[in-house]
Amino acid sequence: MKPLPQRAFEFLDLAPGVGDLLEEVQEGLRSTPKYLPSKYFYDKRGSELFERITELPGYYLTRSELDILQDFAPAITKAMGRQCYLVELGSGNCMKTRFLLDTLEDPVAYAPVDICASTLRNAAATLHREYPRLELLPVCADFTRPFPLPKPHVSPRRTVIYFGGSTVGNFTPRQTVPLLEIMASALGQGGVLLVGIDLKKDPRILHRAYNDARGITAAFNLNLLVRINRELDADFQLDCFRHYAFYNPTKSRVEMHLVSTRDQSVTIDGESFSFHRGESILTEYSCKYRMDDFVQLAQDAGFQLRERWTDRRGHFGLLYLEVAEN
Ligand code: SAH
Ligand code: AVI
Repeated sequence: MKPLPQRAFEFLDLAPGVGDLLEEVQEGLRSTPKYLPSKYFYDKRGSELFERITELPGYYLTRSELDILQDFAPAITKAMGRQCYLVELGSGNCMKTRFLLDTLEDPVAYAPVDICASTLRNAAATLHREYPRLELLPVCADFTRPFPLPKPHVSPRRTVIYFGGSTVGNFTPRQTVPLLEIMASALGQGGVLLVGIDLKKDPRILHRAYNDARGITAAFNLNLLVRINRELDADFQLDCFRHYAFYNPTKSRVEMHLVSTRDQSVTIDGESFSFHRGESILTEYSCKYRMDDFVQLAQDAGFQLRERWTDRRGHFGLLYLEVAEN
């Protein structure tokens, strides 16, 4: 008898269910002003649209962070040291992480964590083919809720959380401190957070990044309603909501909204939500930082800055933060 093929990797599926989606959608739409959580953008189609956004000429964020990783991977991975356990929050297609994996010395394991099961499965399968000797520990979970982090077979010398892509910018500064505090306590003494932040810049550049001429960002935003219609059997009329994104300079954030083009109502699981013409649903904040302001937030959460890198145009920053000694 042939031996059973060894499973390539365990896929830990702790994705939020349809009940969580319903609860959070209803809570957001009952609020004044209305909002929907941005983490729900990322169903299969939403993740595909996000990938197309990263290729748009005006969406400089991904390319800028890639430039940093390309230029400084040796310095970053030297600081991480040998036999580290790399955990990535919001890993997406894991494309950028290869720069770290390619230069890290003898990493013990890599745990990509993402809320989108389809993207995570594809990324993990590809990584397994390309790095067959690396222990892969993919976890499909909402990182804003507690979840168990898998233990690698070999004990690591250090755990590093990579939180790239400016995903931290999708939280307000007030929400960011407790989120980083949870990371610091999960990491413990000696642990490291490598975090990518989008830096303050000319508002026209920011505006272009979230208002592309091809309408991909608009489709990404509207796909949230498509998802809610499909998964919650809701009746949003897609042509009665418009994508609206702008930079709010007093709050240092891009805000994405879906604005109702007329008076209308929508039913979700028997509950009716009414919208006035011009009323908006806030779907995402994307906060932009001065490097020093973010360092201050990280310090408030129990981290110490060790190193920082930016791309040549100074658009994006990557911070290497270590859990501070108490
Ligand atoms: N890090 C990648 C992807 C950034 S897009 C890059 O830089 O290109 C944001 C990613 O975070 C998406 O893949 C999305 O599915 C994931 N994500 C967003 N909110 C999340 C949450 N609360 N929990 C887990 N993953 C989340
Ligand atoms: C994932 N996140 C950091 C992106 C951002 O820029 O805030 C999502 C995005 N929204 C619109 N375009 C891209």
